[in-house]
Amino acid sequence: MEINQATFLGSFTKTEGLIAEAPVEFAFIGRSNVGKSSLINMLCKTKGLAHTSSTPGKTQCINKFLINGKWIITDLPGYGFAKISKTLRASLEIMIRNYIQHTPQMVLLFVLLDCRHPLQKIDLEFLLKLGSWQIPFALVLTKADKLSKTALQNQTDAFHETLSQYWEPLPPIFAASSKTAWGREELLEYMESVLEENG
Ligand code: GTP
Ligand code: MG
Repeated sequence: MEINQATFLGSFTKTEGLIAEAPVEFAFIGRSNVGKSSLINMLCKTKGLAHTSSTPGKTQCINKFLINGKWIITDLPGYGFAKISKTLRASLEIMIRNYIQHTPQMVLLFVLLDCRHPLQKIDLEFLLKLGSWQIPFALVLTKADKLSKTALQNQTDAFHETLSQYWEPLPPIFAASSKTAWGREELLEYMESVLEENG
């Protein structure tokens, strides 16, 4: 599959009352600064489509992009960013939860994890919640360019081992670099297979 067209649809703070613009939607979530918006730009081959920043907490709304005129990619705010007010953090958490629980056309949630760190408590808690809400998800280990091939393989093995204590079978686990576009084709192929299943 190739992405030939990516159009910004809008920035939303709540999902209630939102008309589904397309029948199928993929969303991207993960800790603040993990590389969600960058990954979306990499997949769409469009710099600046989703706004990125080296400062955590950049994305604070639900941003939707129409892909190839047919389906949607949604960029979500990150969770777990400590340096914002409690009120803002709570409202972002509610926004994220409402979106996840009330967007039936969201057929898959990509949960991004930084490949350089072991699975964090906050990520595990989030993944367990997805399990209890029965949300289909896949994992993407981000910033793969920051590790050597061997180190990345070791980290991937460690993620498999940790996650297999909780999931059988394991969810799909990908690795990608938004800097080098490594992993792009594999992700797009997988998305294509999900689109076909939800055809
Ligand atoms: P929030 O919206 O704040 O939650 O962050 P985000 O998860 O959308 O992260 P964003 O894409 O804004 O990227 C955060 C920082 O990580 C930026 O400085 C990016 O340039 C950098 N970054 C993202 N992906 C990669 C990657 O694959 N490799 C490298 N080297 N840097 C990356
Ligand atoms: Mg972002």
